[in-house]
Amino acid sequence: MTFHSEKMQKIKPSGIRELFAKAQGIPDTISLGIGAPDITTPEVLKREMRYAVDFNYNNYDQSPGNPKLRTMIARKYKEEYGVDYSSDGVLITCGGVQLVYTALQTYLGKGDEVLIQDPSFLTYPHQVHLAGGKTVWMPSTSDFKIDIEKMKELVNDKTKMMILNFPSNPTGAIMEKHELKALVDIAVDHNLMIISDEVYEYYTFDEKKHVHIGSIDDAYERTLTANSFSKTFAIPGWRIGFGVSTVEIMKPMIGYHTYVIANATTPAQVALANYMHTDEAKEFQKYIKNEFQQRRDAIVDGFNSIEGIKCHKSSGSFYCYPDISESKYPTGEEFSNKAFEDARVVLVPGTEFGPTQTKNIRASFGSVNLAKIEDVIHRLTRMLEQSKGK
Ligand SMILES: Cc1ncc(COP(=O)(O)O)c(C=O)c1O
Repeated sequence: MTFHSEKMQKIKPSGIRELFAKAQGIPDTISLGIGAPDITTPEVLKREMRYAVDFNYNNYDQSPGNPKLRTMIARKYKEEYGVDYSSDGVLITCGGVQLVYTALQTYLGKGDEVLIQDPSFLTYPHQVHLAGGKTVWMPSTSDFKIDIEKMKELVNDKTKMMILNFPSNPTGAIMEKHELKALVDIAVDHNLMIISDEVYEYYTFDEKKHVHIGSIDDAYERTLTANSFSKTFAIPGWRIGFGVSTVEIMKPMIGYHTYVIANATTPAQVALANYMHTDEAKEFQKYIKNEFQQRRDAIVDGFNSIEGIKCHKSSGSFYCYPDISESKYPTGEEFSNKAFEDARVVLVPGTEFGPTQTKNIRASFGSVNLAKIEDVIHRLTRMLEQSKGK
């Protein structure tokens, strides 16, 4: 028996997951495909998780989240950005993905338009569609910031919100505070909500500091920040994300979350509440940032050393986004197919992230160490050199 689902017809399977599956079990493959850290979860945090289970924190918790964890998250924003959030303005979800989806389901009406940067994290447009909204793509500048002049022209009566994500997946770009302020001003002028996905807040390089959008003048009352512990503490499988905002914005979202999820995993929340402000946690964040900066240097230099490839220096996250349009395989799709077949390297074509992204590929350095990066550059150099004779 088959049943028809109209809304799922527009949903295509995640190309990244397909690539991931294709590469599984094929020997000697190096994957720069999936956006997850290869760093082991900190021992102290693992121990906190074991304690939480052993001390029987295995029941339902409060629906918006464990009260201690909500308080700890509010404290984090005060300490790190000087911004006051009530713990009632915090919602703990099953990953950052569920936080964004909950916001879209809560706030979008049929046909409402959502401004999303081209390119962006591939989940957003699918979530917008599932929530009944329509994605409107904001063009990027050559250094992968939002092109503010062009995006202004896209705002109309149906525009409800914009989704921002800096440091960016897939480009590694960040926008400076004054540039973000220009976006906030547009949101104020047109009464738009801002969803700011800041899951890579701790990975900014070259002394650049992360700008929390809720700290920018006039942004606070209209901004929902999405965040997650997946990348911060190398626990993507625990599925704990969170959002912070005003109590007014958060209250209806908590209502939605209660009926769909009830609560995010209890022992993981208890463990994180006990761990997140410890010295070990701070040390871990420093270590992982330093590690990613070294990898960023190696991979960006490596790509730029290959004839026909140009790569911007990522300012944050753990992605870089080389332009391969002057290589022998000038579209992302061709390049990534060839890289997989000939060099056993998994790379994601830019078209996964936005409709005009034919010239780029995304390389995640979250899960490849320096030795593997060197190997990848060597394999791709050889692949392109060998192709010259053909
Ligand atoms: C920009 C962005 N937001 C959210 C997420 C989701 O993270 P989580 O594991 O918390 O759902 C990711 C994961 O890759 C991401 O890149």
